Amino acid sequence: METWSGFYKRPLEERRRLVAEHAGLDEEEAGLLFAGSALPVGLAERFVENVVGVFPLPLGIALHFVVDGSPVLVPMAVEESSVVAAASHAAKWARATGGFRTEVMDPVTIGQVEVRDLADPRAAAEVVRREAAAWRVVLDASIPAMVERGGGVRDVVPRIVGDRLVVHLHLDTRDAMGANVTNRLCEALAPLVVGAVGGRPGLRILSNLATERLATARCTVPAEAVGGPRVVRAMVEANDLARIDPYRAATHNKGILNGVDPVVVATGNDWRAVAAGAHAYAALDGAYRGLTEYVATPEGDLEASVTLPLSLGTVGGVTSLHPVARVALKVLGDPDARRLAAVVASVGLAQNLAAVRALSGEGIQRGHMALHARNLALQAGLAGEAAEAAARRMVEEGRVNATRARELASD
Ligand code: MEV
Repeated sequence: METWSGFYKRPLEERRRLVAEHAGLDEEEAGLLFAGSALPVGLAERFVENVVGVFPLPLGIALHFVVDGSPVLVPMAVEESSVVAAASHAAKWARATGGFRTEVMDPVTIGQVEVRDLADPRAAAEVVRREAAAWRVVLDASIPAMVERGGGVRDVVPRIVGDRLVVHLHLDTRDAMGANVTNRLCEALAPLVVGAVGGRPGLRILSNLATERLATARCTVPAEAVGGPRVVRAMVEANDLARIDPYRAATHNKGILNGVDPVVVATGNDWRAVAAGAHAYAALDGAYRGLTEYVATPEGDLEASVTLPLSLGTVGGVTSLHPVARVALKVLGDPDARRLAAVVASVGLAQNLAAVRALSGEGIQRGHMALHARNLALQAGLAGEAAEAAARRMVEEGRVNATRARELASD
């Protein structure tokens, strides 16, 4: 993977060629990925209503990721500068110790069936426990293709929430995100539940708090990669603040989602669902907390991990319909849903590590400014080493703006 060093300095066409070669893209696929407008308006009309156009985002490739021993190039659709560079940078730290190690649960979506107006919700919960196995059989019979692929209903679990019964359906949706099928089965389960326990049917819808679909990514960051054991200690202290202060936790978790969401978007998945799940999971014990854990090892290195509920699909829905999402999945090595979750959790952790490292040292602005300066130099028509030199000069002078970039370009 060392060939990726200096990738960002290479001309656009060369970057495209390297990615296409690595992912084995044919001409049509490369054309779609690199077109900049590969979602025809006619196709966009099949996604949403009242379409008048499409809204393009930059698509960058995060480098240096090794996840469970396998290198992977990560497409990220995002408008914020520094995000792709920062993820790549932190992935290099983790790569020095073998990369990211992950644990990903089976892709089990949770659906909720609410029952109101029960005289005795506890007695109703008992009935649900007794009937659960029989209902599983009935529901599985309605989704033969999913059962054939190894998915299907895993459990039917009663919960008492206030004065209501909320029955959870656990559905293994395999490589599909599974929202539609989960909602359909909730609607099919509701009359069975109400028929057995009485009461009035309430909501029937999936839960985005996907606690049966958690992905954990871990890595070890060598102290020397981030500036020594003192910086590691400062990073641990920064993470501690996010564990106890919701104001900091919100920003800390936004940094994780800076990595997560762009991959979710690039693969045609539902980033609102992922973000909602992440925030709810962050508040699961009643207080809103940072989602990462940091521990300094006796040698002074950093052990970091993140756990996230990740409902992601690699087949069906927008993932299959969107031409760029299809090619992005190919760049990722055509992952199944669990592998995609493993990669996404790893990118979230890398992104967070890069942000917390910067905040624990020189602050976030310096890196931002360096990148901003380089972008201005490129926009002013400079390229290669000339652009780098102009960017360095603007940062040194403390004059990072378009006018100065144009002056340097015409020198
Ligand atoms: C900016 O988009 C994200 C950060 O604020 C995250 C953090 O503070 O950890 C830098």
